Amino acid sequence: MKAYRIRNKTLDFPLIQGGMGVGVSLGNLAGHVAKEGCMGVISGVQIGYRKEDFYRDNLRCNKEALKEEVQKARSISDNRGMVAVNIMVAGNQYEEMLKSALESGVDAIISGAGLPMAMPKIAQGYDVALAPIVSGGKAAKVVMNSWLRKENRFADFVVLEGRGAGGHLGFHRQEIDSPDMKLEKLLQEVLEVVKTFEDKKGSAIPVFIAGSVFDGYEMAYYAKRGAFGAQIGTRFIATYECDASEEFSKLICQAKKEDVIITQSPVGLPGRALKTKLLEQLEHDGRIPPKRCIDCLKPCNPTVTPYCISEALIQAAKGNIEQGLFFTGENVDRINKMYHVHDLIEELKTQWEETI
Ligand SMILES: Cc1cc2nc3c(=O)[nH]c(=O)nc-3n(C[C@H](O)[C@H](O)[C@H](O)COP(=O)(O)O)c2cc1C
Repeated sequence: MKAYRIRNKTLDFPLIQGGMGVGVSLGNLAGHVAKEGCMGVISGVQIGYRKEDFYRDNLRCNKEALKEEVQKARSISDNRGMVAVNIMVAGNQYEEMLKSALESGVDAIISGAGLPMAMPKIAQGYDVALAPIVSGGKAAKVVMNSWLRKENRFADFVVLEGRGAGGHLGFHRQEIDSPDMKLEKLLQEVLEVVKTFEDKKGSAIPVFIAGSVFDGYEMAYYAKRGAFGAQIGTRFIATYECDASEEFSKLICQAKKEDVIITQSPVGLPGRALKTKLLEQLEHDGRIPPKRCIDCLKPCNPTVTPYCISEALIQAAKGNIEQGLFFTGENVDRINKMYHVHDLIEELKTQWEETI
């Protein structure tokens, strides 16, 4: 079987399960994905939300929970695949959470929702794969230039996330429907930029493509155009191993095309989500003032924010259909049944092998 090398580790299949916060991809999902020889990603966003002291001692709870979830993923994975953590640049606890992930000995750290300029400096001295999430060639060039110039560090891999993804999107609202933003086109842009860094590095920098990549056939389609593999998010919400509530998985299995909307998030980016009660209420009332604030986001001002996104995502993870914000990818209408992670990945592998 072919092995897919990432830094000094290997994957059996070039698939990353996208980090999904709050509480959607934790140790259970990431561990089961890693066990299949792929990269399982734990989302670090407000990861301590189930801890008793969460609102009183937020940072400590998040740091403790991160370490616990990494340990859990490791023990489930049987030391196969890779266990990674996703940390959002826009979070106020970015540096502390990154350090916790490093101390917990993860194989890789992936950062998006902003450009992760400081990542290699914080990770100095750790043998860990580092990857930025980018939305096109320009962002890839800015990040990789900065890493090389300031820290003499190359990206170990790159995730290109297109406009069809779930959660926050690295595009302006009007770009989301523009033909210029087609995934194939963005992939070529990113590959051109990456090639210049590969020449300097003297080895490959794998590019994983994300955002509405649905099956092994589509993974192979992009692989034929130069992608190393894919990062898939939403499909893993419809698995029995997903760390969010059953209600979240059910909503994903039942959703139709018309249930999906683009909403402006307090993070300062557009986000794709299911049109549920919370978003209808926001549309009607204009604002749902936060009841409390854990000062989680750099760009958020609680006195004017339309709503508290952390609280809404926590409610979604807990299965609160009325008050939750349920992020989703564009292709959710194609998902209509639950899988075990093992069966989903086997299906993706078979489709990939039929095509490649
Ligand atoms: C519920 C949900 C939560 C997400 N949370 C994060 C996150 O915390 N950080 C991040 O970088 N990406 C996040 N994403 C994006 C995914 O990691 C992934 O890249 C994306 O969903 C891929 O598109 P797909 O869902 O169409 O496969 C989230 C996506 C979803 C659906």
